[in-house]
Amino acid sequence: MKTKKRLSLLLAAALTMTTALTGCGGSQQTTSSAAPAPASSTPAASGAAGFSADATIGVALPWLGTQNWKEADEMFRAQLEAAGFKAIVQHADNKVPQQQQQIESMIQNGAKVIVVGPVDGSQLGAVLEEAKAAGISVIGYDRLIENTTGIDGVVQFGSIKTGELQGQALLDGLAAQKGKGPYNIELFGGGPADPNAPNFFKGAMKVLQPKIDDGTLVVVSGQTDFTQCATMDWDNSKAQSRMDSLLSGFYSNKEIDGVLSPNDGIARAIITASEQAGQKIPVVSGLDAENESVEWIWSGKQYSTVAKPTDVLVGKTIEIIKSLQAGKGMPAPDSTVNNGKKDVGVYELAPIVVTKENAKEVFAKDPGRLALLK
Ligand code: BGC
Repeated sequence: MKTKKRLSLLLAAALTMTTALTGCGGSQQTTSSAAPAPASSTPAASGAAGFSADATIGVALPWLGTQNWKEADEMFRAQLEAAGFKAIVQHADNKVPQQQQQIESMIQNGAKVIVVGPVDGSQLGAVLEEAKAAGISVIGYDRLIENTTGIDGVVQFGSIKTGELQGQALLDGLAAQKGKGPYNIELFGGGPADPNAPNFFKGAMKVLQPKIDDGTLVVVSGQTDFTQCATMDWDNSKAQSRMDSLLSGFYSNKEIDGVLSPNDGIARAIITASEQAGQKIPVVSGLDAENESVEWIWSGKQYSTVAKPTDVLVGKTIEIIKSLQAGKGMPAPDSTVNNGKKDVGVYELAPIVVTKENAKEVFAKDPGRLALLK
């Protein structure tokens, strides 16, 4: 029959195309005849077909304003090249349109996987749907990407857990350094566009709220909502201005005992403002184990930080990219999180709290940071 013949011709043409494409090694197979993925995997639309071992991989970072992102920039370049891939690694200077354009150009340049640390978790929907339609796998890095189906998984340190460690460290530090309570404290959050920031705050409040309720902790300003405490764009100077105002407005005849800080840059801004206001240094939490804060912890100026080693996060991401390259799809995730549009697989790593007491232990295998402890 005519139609049958046309169908078989079409099929033959499709087969030849697939073979030709596979033969040149650079393209993804999009036919449904691909071998079924292993039961444990949740392959991306195209990931199950694999791609060339020297394919282009895009990495879109939000900015290089904190040490962890600078490390990610260097490590992705080095480790992707070492794994045989061509790497396009860019950062967007905290600007949403710039990041959208960078991802757009990674799509145009034939990237097979795009790794994204979003500037704003909810502003990449359109460009990532486009990546998805082009058969590109998208991995969220450190931060979740929200309100899009164009994400195949996210690699991160537990963000609620990180906040819990920050809140607990603040409580422990107050008990260790500020005698018996009640303690006067203030709360700071990170950049509201970053989906990690409300989670860090939420995790911390899980630990702190009961102590506020029973009177052990007094938030003298009364500012306890994330929106009141957030620091636009994670900008240290904005945190320092808010701390200056809190101290002049509420602490002219009071001592401040402790401050919840979402990362190390903001912790140092808070400590500097406190010193300038003539306060004794309060107990301050942190995040990232930035070199300068590791030194401040060692000298007793900052109480704690939370380490989330960049090499481990980058290593895990590259492991996933290799699985996609080999045609094994996304590995089985540790858990899932709903991003507003779909359940996203989470590859979750464990953050570690660091104080002067355990710093040598935590950094035993990190010669750079270990050298700062002297
Ligand atoms: C990261 C932190 C970082 C912050 C500001 C967060 O999403 O998890 O490590 O300090 O962004 O750059």
